[in-house]
Amino acid sequence: MNFKKKKLYIENIEAKNIARKFGTPSYCYSLNILKNNIQSFKNNFKSINPLICFSVKSNSNLQILKEIKRFGIGADVVSKGELLIALKAGIDPKKIVFSGVGKTFDEIKFAIEKNILLINAESESEINEIEKISKNKKKKIDIGIRLNPNIDAKTLKKISTGKDEDKFGVSDLTFLKILRKFKNSKYLNIKCLSVHIGSQITDYRPYKKMIAVIEKIIKKSKHKFDFVDLGGGMGIKYNNETKSLNYKKYNLIIKKFLEKNNVKIIFEPGRSIIANTAVLLTKIIYIKKNKKKNFIILDAGMNDLMRPALYGSTHQIIPIKKNNKIINKIHDFVGPICESTDKFLSLKKYQKINEKDILAIHDVGAYGMALSSNYNLRTKAPEIMINKSSLRVILKRQKLNNII
Ligand code: LLP
Repeated sequence: MNFKKKKLYIENIEAKNIARKFGTPSYCYSLNILKNNIQSFKNNFKSINPLICFSVKSNSNLQILKEIKRFGIGADVVSKGELLIALKAGIDPKKIVFSGVGKTFDEIKFAIEKNILLINAESESEINEIEKISKNKKKKIDIGIRLNPNIDAKTLKKISTGKDEDKFGVSDLTFLKILRKFKNSKYLNIKCLSVHIGSQITDYRPYKKMIAVIEKIIKKSKHKFDFVDLGGGMGIKYNNETKSLNYKKYNLIIKKFLEKNNVKIIFEPGRSIIANTAVLLTKIIYIKKNKKKNFIILDAGMNDLMRPALYGSTHQIIPIKKNNKIINKIHDFVGPICESTDKFLSLKKYQKINEKDILAIHDVGAYGMALSSNYNLRTKAPEIMINKSSLRVILKRQKLNNII
């Protein structure tokens, strides 16, 4: 994404031409940014040689998963659907981990049949269920246990997962109890300790605390784990106010941990790989002015991009053609959905814009399309992949016929 002569380009293609060709709203991805993200994620953790499992929930487009797979990356899945699409993308089952608090009998059975690397279990009842199924199949299954380290990830409350009050994982005491109970199971190999404390984490210190808790519990357990799965959560810079995560420090903390613990590290990044690869192009349908503010009514709504309505998160909205005329008045960027939370952003001033202008909502590659819905019976936007000067529709715009 870059501006040339005040016009937005995605790689070599002008955003205006994409909007003209495919209409709006449209999700547009840059393959080059995706490749760079994967490369820099790998470089950041080169010295610890982790297994990287892309978190499919952040973006489950088949073509995107195929691109990611080319880098030898695995997948972190949380449903049968995600497992199926990861396999369809050609991802090696031995690089797939399955997380989630509510895996059903059918999902566990399917995962066992597909010989995936690990099922990361989140409760004693789930492990009982896995043991029952593996006994039935006369197979010894590799599992992980997800620890809830009771750490504040210092991120948005609604995307924090590692505190006592959150439903994820088990406490340290339960962890040890479960380990004792299933240690000698004929049908289970407890191979992994997994954690994930939250998403959009930009401070390395919660990770530091998390590693300290892991270290303590491994010592206490006297169990030999083959893997420690540290989850994802690495935050990105959505705007100038967000800090970026200090990867150097995080890497160093893990390196130190590995000096005393001979395990393979697994990461489950989603956002840090895919978020900044995409913009959502949207057209201004109307501008409604009142005394206090201008409502910029867009053709993209909370059904297309849910994050602002659901978490109060902010995405930059930038016209695809910049000018230098600034209007000092409040601008509320809203969608057409009949909900007051269908609002993307409120700014004190903005450049002069007109009805029918195209704007780009930035950093929507993660949890953008993945969280979209047909609310208000609106069709889902298409996804378009840009690679240098070529364009590819990687998901067609939904047709009303298909949802009615
Ligand atoms: N592993 C586990 C077990 C997870 O629950 C998640 C995300 C990830 C990995 C990937 O986390 P990431 O690297 O993307 O932060 N919809 C919210 C985020 C929810 C995250 C859910 N779990 C949002 O749009 O901010």
